[in-house]
Amino acid sequence: MNEQLLQKIGKLKEQRKAVILAHNYQPGEIQDLADFTGDSLGLSIKASQTDAQVIVFCGVRFMAETAAILCPGKTVLLPDKFAGCPLADMITAQELRQLKQKNPGALVVCYVNSSAEVKAESDYCCTSANAVELVNSLPADRTIIFVPDQHLGRFVAERTGRDMVLWPGYCPTHVLITEDDIKTAKGRYPDAVVMAHPECTEPVKALADQLLSTGQMLKFAAKSPAQKFIVATEIGIIHALKKQNPQAEFIAASDRAVCPNMKKITLAKIIGSLEDMQYRVTVSEEIAKRAKKSLDRMVEILPAR
Ligand code: 13P
Repeated sequence: MNEQLLQKIGKLKEQRKAVILAHNYQPGEIQDLADFTGDSLGLSIKASQTDAQVIVFCGVRFMAETAAILCPGKTVLLPDKFAGCPLADMITAQELRQLKQKNPGALVVCYVNSSAEVKAESDYCCTSANAVELVNSLPADRTIIFVPDQHLGRFVAERTGRDMVLWPGYCPTHVLITEDDIKTAKGRYPDAVVMAHPECTEPVKALADQLLSTGQMLKFAAKSPAQKFIVATEIGIIHALKKQNPQAEFIAASDRAVCPNMKKITLAKIIGSLEDMQYRVTVSEEIAKRAKKSLDRMVEILPAR
């Protein structure tokens, strides 16, 4: 059954001259069929460099919007129109304008998990992979407004020692992972290395050995001599970790850490997307022009690892 669907996707992809990009949180079968998989930073860079005219984005809306802004003129398709990001929806452009008024002179850094309108109101955009490097590159005497993820924001403030105003947004999937989950997993696997995403809560991060984006987790596991890893992020990444490191064991910190939006993409929806060229994600020219300035900076700053 899957074999037939995969063949159909292959044919349609050729007909449409499309490239398929998939985030590390996608279902395993979708990661396997994609031309490129990666974290938010890696996928944005890939999107900006591809020759393909059509990009099928297997991820959530802000990722497809980012591709549309970075590649004006290309057709960007999101196979499920309801695959959104609740974290990105936690701040509006109007709320950010009010925050800027309250903090005159501050520089605004937005996490890529944000709407195009919020990116347009920001000076810089970052992902979890390069947030620390980006903030470190900003003038030391300026206050930084960081939106919308408070947990990533606190991690950056701690690593950089900068004065930061944080917005109280959070990822509903990452906050499901608790301190008790980590303690229980460590009790069962005392010699495992704990890798946590910076979107996790502070008590969870305090118990982690490494705080990493999903792409950094893949790089870290490949280089590490450890054979067991407790993984505190959305469980989709475990597929890629196991595939790339078949000798090692990867334990999900919590089986509840499943992003319902990432799992909305299916093989059948990718077929529908390529057949009917839907759902096209577009950003108005005015918003895209302003958002692109903050995004261009993001794809230029390479993470340390
Ligand atoms: P990464 O950039 O680490 O892949 O994270 C993306 C994301 O959406 C986390 O919720």
